[in-house]
Amino acid sequence: MPFYSEKVMDHFQNPRNVGEINNPDGTGEVGNPVCGDLMIFYIKVRDGRLEDVKFKTFGCGAAIAVSSMVSEMAKGRTLDEAMKITNELVAVELGGLPPNKMHCSNLGADALHKAIEDYKKKSGSGA
Ligand code: FES
Repeated sequence: MPFYSEKVMDHFQNPRNVGEINNPDGTGEVGNPVCGDLMIFYIKVRDGRLEDVKFKTFGCGAAIAVSSMVSEMAKGRTLDEAMKITNELVAVELGGLPPNKMHCSNLGADALHKAIEDYKKKSGSGA
């Protein structure tokens, strides 16, 4: 039984949507108080949907896998749908995380939600 699920290893080794978006419509930055790691999400919104989602994660392998999974789950979704993505859902999608790495899953959805709130603030459509 491997320590990490195959999905976690896959997303860690081949993370999707890494990088920055030029002139993003929203950004969300969250730090993990447990370990000091940092995650930033960038979003591009079109017609109420997340047209593009990118991230930069300065953190452990589990945090990178989580960000990658969040970006895949969020891309193409409406803002409301994306707001319903929870940290627990992401961990489940990844096939679980070892108990001592569960805190690493706490950043992903939070950073995405912050980016959406940032967009709403900027566009004046209310939070
Ligand atoms: Fe910091 Fe995993 S050890 S997010």
